[in-house]
Amino acid sequence: MLTLEGVRQVFRSGQDLVVALAGIDLVLDRGDFLTVIGSNGAGKTTLLHVIAGNLIPTSGRVLIDGEDVTATPAHRRARRIGRIVQDPLSGTAPTMTIAENLALASKRSKRSLAVALTRRRRREFAEVLRPLGMGLERRLDDPAFLLSGGERQALTVTMATLARPDILLLDEHTAALDPANARRIGELTEAFVERTGLTTLMVTHNMEQAIALGNRLVMMHKGRIVLELGGEKKRSTKVPELVSLFSHRHIADDELLLETAP
Ligand SMILES: Nc1ncnc2c1ncn2[C@@H]1O[C@H](COP(=O)(O)OP(=O)(O)OP(=O)(O)O)[C@@H](O)[C@H]1O
Ligand SMILES: [Mg+2]
Repeated sequence: MLTLEGVRQVFRSGQDLVVALAGIDLVLDRGDFLTVIGSNGAGKTTLLHVIAGNLIPTSGRVLIDGEDVTATPAHRRARRIGRIVQDPLSGTAPTMTIAENLALASKRSKRSLAVALTRRRRREFAEVLRPLGMGLERRLDDPAFLLSGGERQALTVTMATLARPDILLLDEHTAALDPANARRIGELTEAFVERTGLTTLMVTHNMEQAIALGNRLVMMHKGRIVLELGGEKKRSTKVPELVSLFSHRHIADDELLLETAP
């Protein structure tokens, strides 16, 4: 589904060269849900930018379904790739209503909002919002700016899945939320991913979440993948064990800056 081969990303910063990605090899199958953890500056966001096409890597290749998209610009990958970032304000159009936001996101209603917002469509939107348990299905005509951060991120995740991309990229999309909402949005994300079979990469600083969600986990450090866990091993690993695995790789705890609390 998604293959990264020897991806390197080097930035020039004044006189210095910053090696943000130092050779990343990664193969994700369709439906894989990979959580990505790592210290600040490890290269996590850069990795997502390379996959999304916002950056053309210095060297290496990116393949989606076997097609080399390394140099394909972001807008030509956008249909296949959904992206959610940390800031709840960035995913929705604030002055548009919940229903209009959902209509915009939905592939089937690209023609016009008037056509899109039939009664039937509104009923469909209410049905996708109801399982969130936030009462958003009763607020279809509220503008998005009225929603709390958690409600907005729930709406953003819903919009991302309505757009039916092949790959979903999440960059700390729960980091700006309180712990209860972060857990809720995490679980909601996993439920959506399971239902739609989306191939997903989720960057998080929350180790509890990184273990709980998805079927694979990688730890990045200084532009490299330094640890990979999958399947039963991932599920059975506890946070302290993960921390000590990092330490074994000669990474000081204080370099990790990871949240070990749930
Ligand atoms: N456009 C750029 N120009 C120069 N350096 C950059 C650029 N983008 C990123 N970097 C550097 O590349 C490295 C990796 O950055 P990146 O944003 O990928 O880290 P990250 O793992 O997402 O960190 P965080 O957890 O803080 O979000 C950092 O040293 C960063 O300063
Ligand atoms: Mg980042």
